[in-house]
Amino acid sequence: MYSIKDYQHTLNKTIDIKKALDLWQSYSDDMYTLYKPYLLNKKVLLIGAGHLTDFPMSKLLNQVSNITIYDIDKDAMSLGLKAQNINEDEITFLTGDITSLDNVNFFEQVVLLLQAKDLEGIKRFFRIISHMNLDLSINSKYDLLIISPFYTQLLLPQYLMYLNEFIIKPKHNEYLEPLLNLISKLINKINEQLINCINDYGKIIIMSDYLEFILDDPKYLEIKNNKLEIEKYYQKYLVKYGQGLGSYGQTNLTEKTKSINHSWHWWPFNEKKVLLVKLSILEKVKVEKDGI
Ligand SMILES: C[S@@+](CC[C@H](N)C(=O)[O-])C[C@H]1O[C@@H](n2cnc3c(N)ncnc32)[C@H](O)[C@@H]1O
Repeated sequence: MYSIKDYQHTLNKTIDIKKALDLWQSYSDDMYTLYKPYLLNKKVLLIGAGHLTDFPMSKLLNQVSNITIYDIDKDAMSLGLKAQNINEDEITFLTGDITSLDNVNFFEQVVLLLQAKDLEGIKRFFRIISHMNLDLSINSKYDLLIISPFYTQLLLPQYLMYLNEFIIKPKHNEYLEPLLNLISKLINKINEQLINCINDYGKIIIMSDYLEFILDDPKYLEIKNNKLEIEKYYQKYLVKYGQGLGSYGQTNLTEKTKSINHSWHWWPFNEKKVLLVKLSILEKVKVEKDGI
């Protein structure tokens, strides 16, 4: 009833795929131009596939040797492929929960604890969860990993929904802190496992959302066309407010790999808001095993 799978499915269903394809086209084409040199004849795993609206799928399929797409929402992937007239036979589907937390009915427990306003219980529960093993069940190795923005989707929006329902506003921060702690540990484990799915010296193309602006925000209008200003603005923001999950996830992955390049992009999410996305190209470094 409170599963992550149902939550993400309901959220994905609110998106008009055809509209998003139009709105996001130049955003996805711009990024494609940057990572195209890394695609040729590669075996690719794409994480956070969703409707695949941020990928020009025919162009991508023309380059790679094969592609596996991963998301918790199989329907979203099917609908997304249909919208781009791609035959499902050209793709391998992998449906899975990257957190593995639906297996332990995570949000059912969380809702019970929030209903009881049991902050100590929440802390205890999250401590136990943070020690759980994570198994993404991705049993193959790939040359290239492509990651569509997903860190900011992990647990937080769903938790905030229940928090708004059961806990009064002044207490929210007390209840948020243990969750953010848990998510950061989870992201570290997810990133380790994702890196394990790539061959030595394989590449990672990662897109992650850092900030969100309303389209008529004067700050956005001031910096939108100037990449240097974006970098400067973000650095100041970082000092003042610290990292969000999108930035934390990408930085954590970058620290475990070698960075080749990065660029900033505006993701015109809908008619009202735009997200600042960082695209990074990373390389898996080979870990030498100690000889005895
Ligand atoms: C913001 S979307 C990325 C954009 C997407 N490529 C598109 O074009 O629709 C994030 C995706 O992450 C997926 N997701 C969220 N939590 C997940 C989880 N625990 N396991 C696997 N996928 C998850 C969602 O279903 C969603 O499709």
